[in-house]
Amino acid sequence: MQTETASGVVPGGRAPQGRPVIRLSEASLAFGERTLWSGLNLSVAPGEYFAVLGSNGTGKTSFLKVLLGLLPLTSGTVSVNGTRPRAAASRVGYVPQQRGFPARTPLRAKDLVAQGVDGHRWGIRTHPRRVHRRVAELLERVGASEYADAPVGLLSGGEQQRLRIAQALAADPTVMLCDEALLSLDLHHQHVVSELVHEQRERTGCAVVFVTHDVNPIIGHVDRILYLANGSFRIGTPDEVLRSDVLSELYGTHIEVLRSNGRILVAGRPDSTHHTDSPEELIP
Ligand SMILES: Nc1ncnc2c1ncn2[C@@H]1O[C@H](COP(=O)(O)OP(=O)(O)OP(=O)(O)O)[C@@H](O)[C@H]1O
Ligand SMILES: [Mg+2]
Repeated sequence: MQTETASGVVPGGRAPQGRPVIRLSEASLAFGERTLWSGLNLSVAPGEYFAVLGSNGTGKTSFLKVLLGLLPLTSGTVSVNGTRPRAAASRVGYVPQQRGFPARTPLRAKDLVAQGVDGHRWGIRTHPRRVHRRVAELLERVGASEYADAPVGLLSGGEQQRLRIAQALAADPTVMLCDEALLSLDLHHQHVVSELVHEQRERTGCAVVFVTHDVNPIIGHVDRILYLANGSFRIGTPDEVLRSDVLSELYGTHIEVLRSNGRILVAGRPDSTHHTDSPEELIP
């Protein structure tokens, strides 16, 4: 059941079904004087695809770190799988925000995936053959078997990202946290990687929390959005949040949300710091 009552919630937002895998109640996060968000009441259901949008520095990565138990809330409560985030971490798949591996990284593709397998519930007593089988299965699932022995630093951004997805899947996650997982990928690889995440959700019913600067590659999958701006937020379905009136109110200035060739564009954001090849800003 969804109990959001904060002003940031768009009325009529779709209520998720099933026992929530993520629950935040009156949650706030501040660093010193600066409040990133407050009064956040949110339940994410199993199988829900939840996108987190917002400009640089609005607290998207910090939101994921709270769910991972790496950052404490300033106030309010958070639970993952019905327990403290730290206690739930073994069933959380995490694709961190990062750039490519340096060329000389002394790891092969399969070593990277094995880190995910070793580091979770399989533990150090797991027989090496079992780890090997599990790694092979995960590489196969993301279509990376053919470069299992390649040094990760020599792989393309898209190939590296498949491995990070495989590493996150090693936890057999009930929730996947993806932080800018499509960054610097070409359109083809954006599609491949977003489909891998979507397939995992379809296959296992895990929830997905997907942080992104551009919602377009995942818009077909997204159930609800958390849009962060100006220390405030809106929550609702894409149609409820990605509207000129809603974002204008959130930003406190006129924002135009345009739909063109199936793509959603936002024009007029005052805090835009990134660049696109379009005269309009891609979302957000
Ligand atoms: N541990 C910390 N101590 C103090 N300030 C922090 C800490 N972690 C993050 N911040 C600040 O909080 C703000 C939000 O950071 P965060 O990484 O969550 O932003 P983001 O929305 O993920 O941005 P980006 O789109 O650039 O990745 C930033 O201004 C950052 O400098
Ligand atoms: Mg970030």
